[in-house]
Amino acid sequence: MKVFVSSDTASLALGSRRIAALLAEEASRRGLALDIVSTGSRGLFWLEPLVEVETGEGRVAYGPLEPDDVAGLFEAGFQEGKEHPLRLGQLEDQPYLARQTRRTFARCGIVDPLSLADYQAHGGYSGLERALLLEPLAIVDEVKLSGMRGRGGAGFPTGIKWNTVLHAEADQKYIVCNADEGDSGTFADRMLMEGDPFALIEGMTIAGLAVGATKGFIYIRSEYPHAYRTMTEAIRVATEAGCLGSSVLGSGRAFTLEARLGAGAYICGEETSLLESLEGKRGMVRAKPPLPAVHGLFGRPTVVNNVLSLATVPWILTHGGQAYADFGMGRSRGTLPVQLAGNVKRGGLIELAFGTTLREVIEDFGGGTATGRPIKAVQVGGPLGAYFPASMLDLPLDYEALAAEKGLLGHGGIVVFDDSVDLSRQARFAFEFCAAESCGKCTPCRVGAVRGVEVMDRIIAGIEPEKNFTVLEDLCTLMTDASLCAMGGLTPVPVMSALTHFPEDFDTVPRTPA
Ligand code: NAI
Ligand code: SF4
Repeated sequence: MKVFVSSDTASLALGSRRIAALLAEEASRRGLALDIVSTGSRGLFWLEPLVEVETGEGRVAYGPLEPDDVAGLFEAGFQEGKEHPLRLGQLEDQPYLARQTRRTFARCGIVDPLSLADYQAHGGYSGLERALLLEPLAIVDEVKLSGMRGRGGAGFPTGIKWNTVLHAEADQKYIVCNADEGDSGTFADRMLMEGDPFALIEGMTIAGLAVGATKGFIYIRSEYPHAYRTMTEAIRVATEAGCLGSSVLGSGRAFTLEARLGAGAYICGEETSLLESLEGKRGMVRAKPPLPAVHGLFGRPTVVNNVLSLATVPWILTHGGQAYADFGMGRSRGTLPVQLAGNVKRGGLIELAFGTTLREVIEDFGGGTATGRPIKAVQVGGPLGAYFPASMLDLPLDYEALAAEKGLLGHGGIVVFDDSVDLSRQARFAFEFCAAESCGKCTPCRVGAVRGVEVMDRIIAGIEPEKNFTVLEDLCTLMTDASLCAMGGLTPVPVMSALTHFPEDFDTVPRTPA
């Protein structure tokens, strides 16, 4: 009998390893042969830890499981025709999954992440095979046609970035994957690397063929040890099988790959800081221009793309750019892997076509708050994203729609808060976060963030409110206009959105400073 148990970091945190060990013990006690396949997660975290069992009608899931439930699974659950209270049926029939449009995450949680044969059996490497038949410019054009925009957060069109690198003259070019996923409430990069690492490897190889780069690096944040191990092992497997190396799939075209562990700083997710860190230096932001596409790693033209952008490329090459562009709204084409977290009943990974509203995500998928209290605020786009009130939940997930409301979609992280949150404290936290994570290169951010904490403390304490609100607004304008990178430049977004949408939390009644 074959059972599937996730080894994704979130699943491990929820107890999946213990469940797998107990399954093995119970099977051996009963003299049963049990083949336990370690997979990534399907992203339905509130049902984990769960086990899927291979049956004649497909995989049948059971969860969420407690250690005490394991013996019972052998009594009833694993036997045809017998019902078990934790039987969920096929996960594909769960509305949470059935209503998604899984493209980037199509295989995640289904395949054995380190089995190349499983990857190929689920459509893996068909994108690269097609890319090998195309001229570099035709690959770039296919990605342009897809309309895909960078999933790291800035939303710059991936095909246009590749085009710049393709046309840059150099003896060496690089593909760098930004896997320094640092936004609060986000986990999609990690899930993808742990659940479907060959998709990223294939996407990076296609990127190499497209722009003429023969070497790639994956920069993984140090807080992701499991993802680092999985990626390192997957690179070894792909290299041994001839999918990476001096002749990719026997084509005579070279592409090699290395995974590197990051240096543990949020700012290393900023692309130029990441390149400095990859070169062995302290992660400090470089002034742009020159863009990394022209003067990147070791001064060579470099594609720097997020995990999700690169891992979506195989799908685009297999099915065609137009098939991807058929999803979405306006200039936001394709699908967005939304990461739903915070005070929500059913957190998880929800891949949806752009245009879905925040309400559908939070209420239909998320089921409202975990505490059962009313939703007060939703932060979209990580710690530099805006806080929106419950009255704005009909906003669609679209780069332009969120920008029009002075927010950002970022990397697709959504964090829900109930009515116990105090937005003045959240505004203070934005400055505090910036002060802790600033690389210190430019004054508006290095000094501004510290001054921001001080002014918020005075506002919270009710000291000279009028004067301090003026200082706060001036400070935010200065940081927005004069910071060198998005860290300092976007910190005013959560602050000003909190002030705009939740003025009652900034009243002038003296309170205890934080
Ligand atoms: P940016 O707007 O400066 O650049 C976007 C990308 O386009 C960069 O890679 C840039 O090099 C490239 N680019 C621009 N013009 C180009 C051209 N003509 N040819 C080729 N490439 C070109 O934005 P930045 O600073 O890279 O990213 C900021 C965003 O990062 C924020 O909006 C935020 O949402 C996101 N972010 C994501 C985090 C995460 O954990 N994923 C963490 C923190 C921020
Ligand atoms: Fe460094 Fe902050 Fe300036 Fe960015 S804005 S360069 S993080 S000091």
